[in-house]
Amino acid sequence: MAEASASEWVNPLYDPGDRRLPRIAGPCALVFFGVSGDLSRKKLLPAVYDLANRGLLPPGFGLVGVARRDYTDAQFAEIVRQDVQAHARTPFREESWKQLVTGIRFVWGDFDDAATFDRLHQTLDELDANEGTNGNHAFYLSVPPKMFEVVVDQLENHGMVDQTKGWKRVVIEKPFGHDLASAKDLYRIVSKAFPPESVFRIDHYLGKETVQNLLALRFANQIFEPFWNNNYVSHVQITMAEDIGIAGRAGYYDGIGAARDVIQNHLLQLMALTAMEEPNSFEPRQLRMEKQKVLAAASTLSDLDLYSARGQYAKGWQGGVEVPGYLQEKGIPADSHTETFAAIRVDIGSRRWAGVPFYLRTAKRMPRRVTEIALMFKRAPHLPFANTETQDLGTNALVLRIQPDEGISMHFGAKVPATGMEIRQVTMDFAYVGSFTESSPEAYERLILDVLLGDPPLFPQQEEVELSWQLLDPVLQHWAEQGAPEPYAAGTWGPQNATDMLARDGFTWRRP
Ligand code: BG6
Repeated sequence: MAEASASEWVNPLYDPGDRRLPRIAGPCALVFFGVSGDLSRKKLLPAVYDLANRGLLPPGFGLVGVARRDYTDAQFAEIVRQDVQAHARTPFREESWKQLVTGIRFVWGDFDDAATFDRLHQTLDELDANEGTNGNHAFYLSVPPKMFEVVVDQLENHGMVDQTKGWKRVVIEKPFGHDLASAKDLYRIVSKAFPPESVFRIDHYLGKETVQNLLALRFANQIFEPFWNNNYVSHVQITMAEDIGIAGRAGYYDGIGAARDVIQNHLLQLMALTAMEEPNSFEPRQLRMEKQKVLAAASTLSDLDLYSARGQYAKGWQGGVEVPGYLQEKGIPADSHTETFAAIRVDIGSRRWAGVPFYLRTAKRMPRRVTEIALMFKRAPHLPFANTETQDLGTNALVLRIQPDEGISMHFGAKVPATGMEIRQVTMDFAYVGSFTESSPEAYERLILDVLLGDPPLFPQQEEVELSWQLLDPVLQHWAEQGAPEPYAAGTWGPQNATDMLARDGFTWRRP
């Protein structure tokens, strides 16, 4: 009987109709360009091991690192092992490692040297022949965007993107360009060699369990839908606060700033998932279409002086330790205008959301690390209580905590026991840790597995990327014309202009 070709290979355990079952990738090789970088070493390589450890990688699996270092396969494998032992989520098990290590290879060389790609070609041929990777190859470009074109051209020139002998996929990391024009350019470069369904754009927030739970919460339940609209919600606050500074990433961060780093991708995706209509199914096209509709209907306000805010952290205290300001960080020019705090108001022109501002905020060096989506409700139309009785009644809110302490909480007023009638804000909590025994996989585990399975729903499409830039470009242009961002002390909740921005609409930022 003729054997199924690689592209026809069907995983007997993978039933796309039943998402409860473990999904195991078919034979393939995963090639990491830029494998010596921080992201690869702390996140990507450990995630690959975690997949192997969970039994989700096939026996025919190759892991190829490409970088300028002069390692042998064995030396590279040793580095991977150290990274795995230091950063993997699951315990180190010799048997999983033994299985993974047989397919580990290293290719040294510069990306602009054709010889590097000759070597890569040979290595992939060898893996196909010896490890049974069957011509299925995923190329993960964990390299600065300016290198994308070089790598993609080399792959094409070396005949390594031919989809007829096994599948070929490319994985790119944000930032997807630095504005609309460059995002289109990037697309042009990548699509010279790869058809749209073979391009996987990683926004690691979409791989987080709690982000996917947003879909379960909204569309598996009846109780939330009735109030998920402008009849009840007064505004939405989406916050991604980090307590760290730029953590040694001056080269990447300066000139990019908080809005490009986080709002363009993670926060606008969270907004789209919060605001979208129910998709007909979770078939990739349907989900994307609904997200796109939100992004297409979203706009910032034309008075960006009033409805956007930015800041830059100055020195301050964090966890009892004095920390330097952004301008004192190693590698940052003393006159940098890069923002480390960014907030914008976004309005969504739809029947569901007209009149409900969405406030998106992100920053480095805030008092704590927290990402959350908070639906803030209108006040009850009538309160049959004395003013003194409700003075501690805050705003009703539904808060989806993306991280840490993943869960959902509801904030509302309750009577204080043994008082005549005093109402105080209380919180009702659902926490993942208390409700499930399973621990959450890392976002990269989920996303890398999806790439290997060719499962696209969690990867933003070019249209979403372009719509996001379309929204953000005017804000960035406006900021570029202004002088230095307003400083805020490290370890505080951000600059005054952000507080003013919300106060203007009669709201205050949550202190999560
Ligand atoms: C990345 C940003 O996308 O997300 C970083 O480039 C940020 O600046 C990081 O620190 C935060 O990710 P997480 O998963 O820790 O919230």
